[in-house]
Parts: sequence; C-alpha cells; structure tokens
Amino acid sequence: MQVRPRRLRRTPALRAMTREVHLSPEHFIHPIFVHEREDEHPVSTMPGVSRHSVQGAVEQARLALSLGIPSVILFGIPDHKDALGTQAYAEEGVVQQAARAIKAQVPQVTVIADTCLCEYTDHGHCGPLCEVPGQTGADAWTVDNDPSLELLARTAVSQAQAGADVIAPSAMMDGMVAAIRSALDAAGFTHIPVMSYAVKYASAYYGPFRDAAGSAPSLGHRGTYQMDPAGGHREALREARLDVEQGADTLMVKPALAYLDVLKLLRDEFDLPVVAYNVSGEYALVKAAAQLGFMDERRTVLETLTSMRRAGADAIITYHAMDASRWLREAQ
Ligand code: PBG
Ligand code: ZN
Repeated sequence: MQVRPRRLRRTPALRAMTREVHLSPEHFIHPIFVHEREDEHPVSTMPGVSRHSVQGAVEQARLALSLGIPSVILFGIPDHKDALGTQAYAEEGVVQQAARAIKAQVPQVTVIADTCLCEYTDHGHCGPLCEVPGQTGADAWTVDNDPSLELLARTAVSQAQAGADVIAPSAMMDGMVAAIRSALDAAGFTHIPVMSYAVKYASAYYGPFRDAAGSAPSLGHRGTYQMDPAGGHREALREARLDVEQGADTLMVKPALAYLDVLKLLRDEFDLPVVAYNVSGEYALVKAAAQLGFMDERRTVLETLTSMRRAGADAIITYHAMDASRWLREAQ
C-alpha cells in the first residue's frame, strides 16, 4: 500500500497540525433572554437557559466575556404586548434597558439586538396583521409587509440609540434591510452594521424559543414570510442577494444543522461573513438526549459546532456558547 491516510492520525500533534477547522469562543454569540422582572426564570424546554432581569443580562454579558465570548444577542420579553408591538420600539423597552445597562457596565461586550416584533405583538407575528382575501382558517391572516417595515426601522433606531452595536433583523419582511439601513443612516448610525437573518426557514426547530419568548403565533403561521424548508438553493440565493443589494453587512442561515448545505452555498457565493444560528430546537435535542444518557453532551456539542464552522460559518449564535467555551478552555 502506497497511501495510508492513518499515518497523519497517529498522534495528537499530527492530528492537530493537519486540522483545517478551528472552533474557539471568539466565534460564538451568546443569546440572552431579558424580561421586565427581577427574578431569573428557567425555560423548561431549554435546560440551562433562563429569562433574565436587566441586571441579570449584564451579569450574563460579563460572564460571556470572561469566557472569551465577545458578543451577545438580546431577545426581549415585554410585560405588555399589543397589536403593533409598541414595546419593541419604546425608549424604556426591555431590550433598550438591557443594551444601555450592558454598555454602561461591560462596554467591551458587543451588543447585538435581535430586531423583530413577534415577542412584542399580542398575536405573536413579526409585524401587524392583515387579511388574506379568499383564505380561511390558518391562512386567513398574514403580516402586512410595508407597515411592518416602518415599525422595524423604528425598533432598529431605538435599539441603536440605546447603545446596540449591531442590528439583527429577523422578521423576513421584503425590503427589511433597506428600510433599516436608511433609517439608521438618517438617525446618524451609519457605523452600525446590519446582521441580516437573510435566509430563515419556517422551522419546527424554533419551538423552544417560542416557549422562552412567549412568541408562538396565536393565529395562523409564519409560512407566508419565513421560507419553505423545501424551497431549495435558488430561493436561498435570491433572499441572500436581495439583502446584499440592500446593504446587509453579514448574512445568516437559520436554523443551522438541517441547513448546512445552504450555509456552504452562501459561503461560496458571497463575500460577506456568514453567521449560523444554532437554534433552540437544535439545543433542546442535544440537551434532552444528554439528560436521558443517550449522548455525550460535550462531544456532541463540539462536533456540531465544528460542523457549522466547516460548512463556512464565521460566527455561530448558540445557546451552548458558555458551556462550549468552558470545554474548549479545559481542552487547552
Ligand atoms: C424572532 C426570532 C425567532 C428566533 C430568533 N428570532 C423565532 C421565530 O421566528 O419564531 C428563533 C430562535 C431559536 O429558535 O433559537 N423572529
Ligand atoms: Zn419575529
């Protein structure tokens, strides 16, 4: 035999030397749920994840930084929800409070604000609703695209005013990035990047997040704005290209694991950084299997996150960020 690939796998040094993909805490973005309460409220479907108070969010950011994680993404859970999601763009909204508190107390942390209305609307959709003529039942309602743009733009500006370093719009409205980019620019925030959730599928993997955020739609579904999982690569390219044309600074694929092909596609076709969102359901699967003793949590998590890096992700939003960072440090 002339060729023996095993020669390069014989020792840890040889394996490390020939490794192509690297995983480190600097690639992680730690998600924080923040609510308008003083207590810490565990999310039952996401073991190890809680909703935090504003001060609790500051402590989360501080802990993330101490583990080498440079950025956090904020999700707000307001006490008051209404048809127009007004708390999303309120000066004293919960994300605005948390962004201000984190930037005041741990200024080195990069604060990313998730920009959407579904946690703030009483119906749980990502913008105000309108009827779909001729449709009944779950298909009789959809989000009214253009009025939503104005509210999302207001939300982005108010988050930037509160100190958010990055705006991450996740509503999947047409023209969303352009609307947000021009509103940010008009308000003097030309330096604030837009991390667009460019390619976001209507996914069952968001289930635990919707428990955490109380944002499950009370009527209808998100299939008229989020993408069809069977949509294919052309649709993914089109959604990404539209966001690039509108000035997106980074692209995102969400969920990650079931869509690694799409991640790799965007990596190859565009020259922007690509972010993978390792979503709540992906997290819950691993946690549940680990709790049942079916899988080794540490090895599974590190392998999964590595697969996202290998597919082309520059950064990964993941609920495993803190644990994975600890494990990576221990391994050094
Ligand atoms: C809001 C938003 C969602 C997630 C991130 N931003 C929920 C949704 O679209 O229902 C999902 C995140 C996760 O599942 O971890 N638009
Ligand atoms: Zn939303």
